[in-house]
Amino acid sequence: MPVIGSVTAVDVRGLNVRRGKNHVLNDINLTVTEGSITGLLGPSGCGKTTLMRSLVGTQIVASGTVTVLGQPAGSAALRRRVGYVTQSPSIYNDLSVRDNVTYFAALYGRPRSAVQEAIDSVGLGERAEQRGDALSGGQRTRVSLGCALVADPALLILDEPTVGLDPVLRADLWDRFAAMARSGRTLVVSSHVMDEAEHCDQLLLMRDGHLLAQLSPAELRCRTRESSLEDAFLALIRSTESEHAA
Ligand SMILES: Nc1ncnc2c1ncn2[C@@H]1O[C@H](COP(=O)(O)OP(=O)(O)OP(=O)(O)O)[C@@H](O)[C@H]1O
Ligand SMILES: [Mg+2]
Repeated sequence: MPVIGSVTAVDVRGLNVRRGKNHVLNDINLTVTEGSITGLLGPSGCGKTTLMRSLVGTQIVASGTVTVLGQPAGSAALRRRVGYVTQSPSIYNDLSVRDNVTYFAALYGRPRSAVQEAIDSVGLGERAEQRGDALSGGQRTRVSLGCALVADPALLILDEPTVGLDPVLRADLWDRFAAMARSGRTLVVSSHVMDEAEHCDQLLLMRDGHLLAQLSPAELRCRTRESSLEDAFLALIRSTESEHAA
């Protein structure tokens, strides 16, 4: 297990977000510790992407504060310290995989040697010279992830980065995320599959725009007396619903 420090990387207080007529995030409070992996989990439409956009500073918020690495989210000073891979990433179609990643390496002042490593870590070593427009959807996602990995930012926010990946690559990526956390990087990773929760130090469990709990996988099991994290999340939802109904 990584040793988690106590420096706060992300602090969210009383966050409310509306999108259109929808109240999408309701009074969210959370903290993320430096050098840890935090999993943001919950069903489709619960507000994961909206919360991530709030951390990056691209989401208009109705009220509340979002502090990232000691600065208000979206501050100019954070531009090179925060990486964000969106759920439907865009890459340069007219550039090869290698040139896409090299561009980000240059932008973030990273050595050329980091480029090949990033390409290999997303399993695109054999496609490095292929143009962006000749890649499948999943391969494009991996290029985008490679661009974020080569940048090596202090805080990396990844919106469902492992969807559609083969199990071996998925396991390799989680190993890499763990190594990054051990070296002091902070990762926030969303997923709607609970088996990924096992790789996280902390879980943020969301439903319908509410944060149901922030706790570790072990705490979730202990609190619900369920051994499978999927069952534990279900039990937590049921217990919060019955609290509300009471
Ligand atoms: N541009 C928008 N205008 C109005 N409502 C929106 C907009 N974008 C998202 N929403 C609503 O906000 C809610 C949260 O959406 P969000 O994309 O944050 O969910 P999510 O948890 O990331 O879902 P998924 O797992 O499907 O990616 C949803 O109910 C969605 O319908
Ligand atoms: Mg989403």
